[in-house]
Amino acid sequence: MGRHGFGIDVGGSGVKGAVVDLDTGELASDRIKILTPQPATPAAIAETVVEITERAGWSGDVGITIPGVVTHGVVRTAANIAPEWINLDAKALFSEALGTSRAVTVVNDADAAGVAEVHFGAAHGHTGLVILLTFGTGIGSALIYNGVIIPNSEFGHMEVGGREAEHQAASSVRENRDLSYPEWAKKVSTVLNRFEDLLWPDLFIAGGGVSRKHEKWVPLLTARTPVVAAQLRNAAGIVGAAMAVDTGVRH
Ligand code: BGC
Repeated sequence: MGRHGFGIDVGGSGVKGAVVDLDTGELASDRIKILTPQPATPAAIAETVVEITERAGWSGDVGITIPGVVTHGVVRTAANIAPEWINLDAKALFSEALGTSRAVTVVNDADAAGVAEVHFGAAHGHTGLVILLTFGTGIGSALIYNGVIIPNSEFGHMEVGGREAEHQAASSVRENRDLSYPEWAKKVSTVLNRFEDLLWPDLFIAGGGVSRKHEKWVPLLTARTPVVAAQLRNAAGIVGAAMAVDTGVRH
């Protein structure tokens, strides 16, 4: 039997967790999803995290993603979660909630997805600069150069045409404004063009929940750089979270 870990991906709309086969990058249990409590305060999320591990019957180490900057287990920004997260020691919070005998690792959600795609997905074996973007409530970014992640890049907040990228091209914008895929793809292309002008990537990987419907919008993008869908789709965050415990990715 392969090595197993447990990853939990805390998102703006759902908190998702599963057992992960660390040797193959596949989910080794059903994915458990609980709607993100509103407001998404640290106490409410900690409770949800505990509930997911209990429902899964998992008592081992846990990797957790947060949709914000995380340095050394401390959350530094909270664009799409409650402001109480800012400067909160999330590693300590979750350790206490889960029991201090377990290793707990907390990483940025897009970086976790990046780690998973490097090992098991679309960035595997890819040299040069790969930019993974997760399209969800916000836009997350992972910068990967020759297979190494540069953590905590925050390009969802890059200014494009005077406004933050995620305020015009996140998946939530498409949903809230009821945009068609062609209308939304135009906005995503504008954002990708800005990345191209500033960073000259070799490949874009499109992740987040909407990557499941990649055939509806990825072919419409007008970037000069190739764009592929995240191979692990939305499970990349869970897989990368579980791997972070093992690899020690920025915790
Ligand atoms: C946050 C990032 C996060 C992204 C996706 C942004 O608003 O600042 O840290 O990766 O949303 O959740």
